Amino acid sequence: MSTPRRVVAGNWKMNHGPDATRSFFEALGSVPDGPRVAIFPPAICLPAAVGAPGRDARIELGVQNVHAAESGAYTGETSVAMAAEAGAGLVLVGHSERRHVFGETDADVAAKVARVLQHGLEPVICVGETLDQRKAGQLEAVLDRQIRAALASLPAGARYMVAYEPVWAIGTGETATPDDAAEAHGLLRARLREVHGGDSDAVPILYGGSVKPGNAADLMDALGVDGVLVGGASLKAEDFAGIIAAA
Ligand code: 13P
Repeated sequence: MSTPRRVVAGNWKMNHGPDATRSFFEALGSVPDGPRVAIFPPAICLPAAVGAPGRDARIELGVQNVHAAESGAYTGETSVAMAAEAGAGLVLVGHSERRHVFGETDADVAAKVARVLQHGLEPVICVGETLDQRKAGQLEAVLDRQIRAALASLPAGARYMVAYEPVWAIGTGETATPDDAAEAHGLLRARLREVHGGDSDAVPILYGGSVKPGNAADLMDALGVDGVLVGGASLKAEDFAGIIAAA
């Protein structure tokens, strides 16, 4: 069984314009050998990130969302081809804010995953339950439905990641305990094996939801947690560097 390389990824959401993007990479400087490190800036800041003076070229870049269509009359949207041309290697798909604020469905997620793979980019498929769903004992059913829908677009051996982000822990300061994370990651790992067999053992499963420098090491030590997807604490180079150090 192969163990995935650790991953530390930052999702800036709708924060940091081009100037702040350049300042961030200058302040972060080079990253240590070991974990994969990635930043998802706003799409419009991708060129600033690519050209940021002092950016360690090993820091991977991605976009936070794409449209599933190849191109066309979709005002305001970003295609996978454009994202790739602008320097993205990774794409977040199905982030909880996309699902719950913008109404993205499992079918949308599956279509986006297919398009991302078609262009040779690596999707990061986000899944997670709401507090109501957790309280109603639906954790397993929700994760199962979300991951199965996304995996339907993924051939065995495809390069992708999964991010478990419990909705109740995103931007709330509430963090899943390492045991909560281990339970959800175990469920997800079992689904990947069921669908793709041993090929899926190399797929990293990240935890996201109020990850900070102070809790990152404990979360990454939890069974089955291969890395973290960080929102708020990825905006400051110092905090993000602290999380990278914990990996
Ligand atoms: P926070 O780390 O701000 O809770 O956000 C998590 C997240 O949504 C990362 O994609």
